[in-house]
Amino acid sequence: MNVRKAIFPVAGLGTRFLPATKATPKEMLPIVDKPLIQYAVEEAVDAGLTDLIFVTSYTKRAIEDHFDRQFELESKLAEREKLELLKLVTEVIPKNINCVYIRQREALGLGHAVLQAKDIVGNNPFCVILADDLIKNQQKNCLTQMIELHDRFPANILAVEEVPKEQTSSYGIIAPHKQIDHYYEVNGIIEKPEPQDAPSNLAVIGRYVLQPEIFSFLEEVQPDKGGEIQLTAAIAAIMQYQKVFGLRFAGKRYDCGSKLGFLQAQVDFGLENKELSAQFADFLQHRLSTH
Ligand code: UTP
Repeated sequence: MNVRKAIFPVAGLGTRFLPATKATPKEMLPIVDKPLIQYAVEEAVDAGLTDLIFVTSYTKRAIEDHFDRQFELESKLAEREKLELLKLVTEVIPKNINCVYIRQREALGLGHAVLQAKDIVGNNPFCVILADDLIKNQQKNCLTQMIELHDRFPANILAVEEVPKEQTSSYGIIAPHKQIDHYYEVNGIIEKPEPQDAPSNLAVIGRYVLQPEIFSFLEEVQPDKGGEIQLTAAIAAIMQYQKVFGLRFAGKRYDCGSKLGFLQAQVDFGLENKELSAQFADFLQHRLSTH
């Protein structure tokens, strides 16, 4: 069955980025001139997804506004014949894409956020996209690579990448069973293990293609020590009944939920921006030579 639906859980508290995220959604922080959530939406649309479900909260209204019309701005830009800018603001999302917004009333974890979309997803495979993981690709984007694998094996697919061993406690880590080309059959997954307990250094990053059966497992997950319902726990449970694959995708990921990853993305995307690249490179070279 074709994958058409995507969930964007955007109801987290963004504590690693306070105070910026006190009143502004983390997903609205821009890399150069575009908010993180727009990069994520563009990736989904390029991968052929047409139904986008945003799990938001009361502090995240700016995300709904960003993907809506802004008539005053549009008419002023039209009056002033700023047609390129007008195109930019009216085309943040293609017309054939359906957007649905639902609320997670309390930040009870990623698994809980995904569960809020159960009725809208129905009995269809779907993607989960975490916008703070920004991925730069050369050719096919990460979701497209995952959906292609899903077309071959209609299973649960996790995007994975190698991380330094000392960072395993920041990620869900898979136990790879068998490697075939660029993907692994997964036979275990542990949320944020200490390096000595980690079954590998292959970390799950913010892209998933999941089977709808995951919802019944999510409903059974007990809150962890921090009171959160983890998606990882439901994936660990579904593994007894359905196949789970980890895809080592081609592309570079930036953890834009962390300050360092955010700065790295600004530099790389700035250096590749047509308008800015030459001046920005000069600035960086000069700045580093005097650092
Ligand atoms: P994170 O682990 O990055 O948490 O969530 P966070 O709250 O956004 O940020 P920090 O760690 O406090 O700085 C991973 C993803 O899951 C969403 C977040 O919005 C993010 O996209 N999420 C997390 C929810 O939608 N609801 C939650 O209750 C928790």
